[in-house]
Amino acid sequence: MALKLNKEDNIGGQDNPVSRLREMAFKPPKRIANYAYVQSMDDYEAMYELSVNDPEKFWGQIAEEFYFERDQPEGEPFFHYNFDITQGPICFNMLKGAKTNVCYNVLDWNIQRRGIGKNIAIHWEGSETDDHWSITYDELLVEVCRFANALKSLGVKKGDRVVVYMPMIAEITITMLACARIGAVHSVVFGGYSAESLAGRLIDAKAVVVVTADGAFRGDKVIPLKEITDKAIQLCLEQGHNVEHSIVVEHLPRLKKYELMGKKSCIQGPLDKSYHDIIANQSDICVPEWVDAEDPLFILYTSGSTGKPKGVLHTTAGYMMYAALTFKMVFDYKPGDVFWCTADIGWITGHTMMVYGPLANGATVVLYEGTPLYPSYTRPWTVIEKYKISQIFTAPTVIRSLMKFRNSPMLRHDISSLKVLGTAGEPINPEAWLWYFQTLGGTKCPIVDTYWQTETGGPCITPLPGATPTKPGSATFPFFGIVPELLDEDGHVVEGEGEGYLVFKQAWPGMMRTVYGDHARFEETYFRRFPGYYYTGDGAKRDSDGYIWITGRVDDMLNVSGHLLSTAQVEAAILEHKCVSEAAAVPIEHPVKGEALYCFVVLNEGLEMNKSIIGEINDKVRDKIGPIATPEKIHLAQGLPKTRSGKIMRRILRKIAAGETDFGDISTLADESVLAALIKPAKQ
Ligand code: WTA
Repeated sequence: MALKLNKEDNIGGQDNPVSRLREMAFKPPKRIANYAYVQSMDDYEAMYELSVNDPEKFWGQIAEEFYFERDQPEGEPFFHYNFDITQGPICFNMLKGAKTNVCYNVLDWNIQRRGIGKNIAIHWEGSETDDHWSITYDELLVEVCRFANALKSLGVKKGDRVVVYMPMIAEITITMLACARIGAVHSVVFGGYSAESLAGRLIDAKAVVVVTADGAFRGDKVIPLKEITDKAIQLCLEQGHNVEHSIVVEHLPRLKKYELMGKKSCIQGPLDKSYHDIIANQSDICVPEWVDAEDPLFILYTSGSTGKPKGVLHTTAGYMMYAALTFKMVFDYKPGDVFWCTADIGWITGHTMMVYGPLANGATVVLYEGTPLYPSYTRPWTVIEKYKISQIFTAPTVIRSLMKFRNSPMLRHDISSLKVLGTAGEPINPEAWLWYFQTLGGTKCPIVDTYWQTETGGPCITPLPGATPTKPGSATFPFFGIVPELLDEDGHVVEGEGEGYLVFKQAWPGMMRTVYGDHARFEETYFRRFPGYYYTGDGAKRDSDGYIWITGRVDDMLNVSGHLLSTAQVEAAILEHKCVSEAAAVPIEHPVKGEALYCFVVLNEGLEMNKSIIGEINDKVRDKIGPIATPEKIHLAQGLPKTRSGKIMRRILRKIAAGETDFGDISTLADESVLAALIKPAKQ
């Protein structure tokens, strides 16, 4: 492949074959570097050193930009933490004893100090191109106060959990901020999850209220969110948990396509309340609840390797500061820029980069309800052109799904407003990186490949657009406050060039504080394997220039289109099918999704393998988890390779799924004939 690059952009040489892409480095374009907050690697290094050697000074300066109703009492440590489980309980506090409110900071305080009341906070763009509207900071504050008052009138108070199961509409942001305003803890559940997944989260969070919408469009399809919520509430009841209120945003009647639909209200049950009715008579003013810097802000569930999702808990001041600073620095956000993040708000990316990070900076965001390819693959170009987007943040899977289309129709759109292009959620292959850089960015926009997790609250390893020379596929260097190390199997630090388990040595403001209701699980998952370090669960390499390259999960997790799933969770769903006796799920590579699920399934004795069982197994997974977990391939097997002690040898299954035949050492395999039967082309 011959690459057409500007000489200035490419310090690795021209006309590189694909295999050499990883060795190339792209300098930040001057038009970005000359105006950026951080303009060189020297600047970055100086700031980085301060952030890790004197975190109190570094974060103390950031804290000054925020409003605290009460400062920390004398004598309280700014930071207090223990990462060493052998020395006592794992903990991390920051600014404990100080009082603030995130909603007040991002709205009232920002409107006052930046004078941005009349600026647009959110441009909402519907799935159909003619559905769109915008809301200013002043209007957002009024909406948030009215809904916060409505929640209070229903009895919701500080510390109560409110589950949010909504499409990508402004009310999702309003609900999150309304909760924050009254000190309630929100837990947003991705709108693609099933009733069972939603019920599991409602029960685990002991939620009193669920806020949902009648439905949403995904392309041409309507997702019946209210129906799914009703089912989930019923499942909760059966398991002894009472949800007290189900608040429904009537979103569909606002859409142009609604005319074509059945037009019947879905607000009929005894728990149902119309969002619009309950805010109708509320006051526009709601005095914020001043909460402790370490009071919970939200819970966000993420897959756990044992199968049960973990309720990742984030607290107030540290998360607010980390979200604000990462957004500002990673995207080099300047007043007047328009930011578009395509991630669903149900993921951490949406929380930090669609809600808290941008609003803390007084930014304007585009909230797009639809899918990137609807009604055609040129949609991203039309959205960029329409709103003059400056920064776009998406996932490698979206980039790969766009790459297969020819470029010419896209060139008709003026996308010259773009400055910085971001990606997150999974490793980006160099070819996709380069397509993003050349086709979307026209080689003029730095790519920021940001590595982070639900647990970390914000990007941890990331380029800064004005400073870092980037290499396609590398997340480059640590963000301020992050001290990464690579460890070998025995926990020894890998110095210099090498590969190992990625861990973080020091606490940073945005890190999770616990697994909701299960601190022991928090300690076991992240701090037991390597005492003294936060364990990410990812592997990474460091090259001879010190660049970090994330190699992917090292536990039983996989990443489908940027969504983290645990193989145990999928296996548990498959095993619920009455005909299935054993199941093992392994990741396989997928050209668009990054990874996909390959499931080995053993049926009960005497049962015939047939296509309808495969369909039923797929349905089971969709019902239990959601469509994102649908297996790519179900391999009906007579038996699974096991060790003599009965442990499934997943290493071998991964190789079979990948079509490999060299299985390495199989001396611990109990029955070799199982292997032979598995590699015969499967009869399906
Ligand atoms: C993976 C998403 C490579 C990683 C923000 C991590 C990445 C998991 C990257 C967290 C990246 C995220 N390069 N891998 N830039 N970003 N990951 O919690 O395996 O949904 O542990 O947070 O995604 O997924 P989560």
